[in-house]
Amino acid sequence: MNLYDRIPNNVNLSEDKRLQRALEKWLPNYLDWWREMGPEGFQEKDVYLRTAISVEPDGWANFDYVKMPDYRWGIFLKPAEPGATVGFGDNYGHPAYQEVPGEFRNSLRRIIVTQGDTEPASVEQQRLLGQTCPSLYDMRNLFQVNVEEGRHLWAMVYLLHGYFGRDGRDEADALLERRSGNPDKPRILEAFNQPCDDWLNFFAFTMFTDRDGKYQLSALAESGFEPLARTCQFMLTEEAHHMFVGDTGLSRVVKRTAQLMKQGDVRELGGIPLDIIQKYINFWFSYSLDLFGGEISSNSADFFAAGLKGRYKEQELYTEHSATNEVLTLQSVEGGELKPREVPLRNALNEVLRTEYVKDCEKGLARWNKALADEGLTERLFLPNTRFHRHVGEYAGHSFDVDGNLISSEEFERRKAEWLPTIEDREYVRSLMHPVTEIGKIANWIAPPATGIKGKPFEFEYVRL
Ligand SMILES: [Fe+2]
Ligand SMILES: [Fe+2]
Repeated sequence: MNLYDRIPNNVNLSEDKRLQRALEKWLPNYLDWWREMGPEGFQEKDVYLRTAISVEPDGWANFDYVKMPDYRWGIFLKPAEPGATVGFGDNYGHPAYQEVPGEFRNSLRRIIVTQGDTEPASVEQQRLLGQTCPSLYDMRNLFQVNVEEGRHLWAMVYLLHGYFGRDGRDEADALLERRSGNPDKPRILEAFNQPCDDWLNFFAFTMFTDRDGKYQLSALAESGFEPLARTCQFMLTEEAHHMFVGDTGLSRVVKRTAQLMKQGDVRELGGIPLDIIQKYINFWFSYSLDLFGGEISSNSADFFAAGLKGRYKEQELYTEHSATNEVLTLQSVEGGELKPREVPLRNALNEVLRTEYVKDCEKGLARWNKALADEGLTERLFLPNTRFHRHVGEYAGHSFDVDGNLISSEEFERRKAEWLPTIEDREYVRSLMHPVTEIGKIANWIAPPATGIKGKPFEFEYVRL
């Protein structure tokens, strides 16, 4: 088998002997990992998937039936812009780094490993969901997300192999060894160790947690380390579909729930009550907020100063790229009270990125609330305050209600069943998850999508079972 024919790429793989040798060792381990931890029970089925075979507009979304282990995991970077420069920080205007700058080597490897770790983690979290899919259309979307997360792992492994030598290779191996939710060798970030074992979890995960990915990748797409920037720029084209799956998935659940609310008791009618949907939103939104890191962070200042990680749309939205003379006022807990605290902007860049993310999430909420309004209902869903249920940063170790009021840990314990999914809620949702795999059919707890994929109708054989 000629590996390089099977790996579509625009990084001159056929001429790079060192990279070839590294990938030759890594690829079989990757395939073993995919067979062990990828979607269980569907590896030999034909799935109507899009595959990137080039970065040109007509090449990155080729649709055809493919068995997932035969998916052509490619290595793609957005084409280089001649004369690229570092776009922010202390080295603003200097030529972009083509190699890893020695003094930032460890930080940069950490950034890439942390991003890379999330990609296989989500595949692991979602590996059983195919068995309870609400329709073939949804099953196909799940598998599309899964193979693309696999490709994103490739993208990060390419950077590790290509730019970090021996320790990069070790890190690439370790990415295949950690396991989501395994206490002995967990994935790096907590949201990626949480179970994602029903489809409401899946939609909330792709809405909120994949969206964190969008913002992290956007900040890295600004990087002065050019191979990283160009890799992330291309990954973002694929990521958009993942968030579409989550956003429209939740919208369809909300719509169906609204229809059932008008008919009677949602539980008796086999739907998901609105208050359970709200709790899943609270859970995944708060865990996803943690992924941005502490509100006050010297790492964020260092990464920005070094030109490694910018702000969201740094070039498009800002004219001043040093971020030195500004401050951000944050609420911080002092002496049992919330008090405003001024932080130099560079140290508050995690919070700046998080704020952009929250604005984006609010648009999703507006769409779901429109689905409720369209059905004539007055009930509304909301995002909890960003201080609620946090495990990282300023608010970790304190308790807040969903409106962001500081409360005692006893009160939180007493009321947490109002705000977060209980075991009973999760069991109820799981009890609805029966597979629906007939062409054109859909489970009772979710509305069908407005349109199919790539111009196909909803009634299309997206997966050949
Ligand atoms: Fe990804
Ligand atoms: Fe994703």
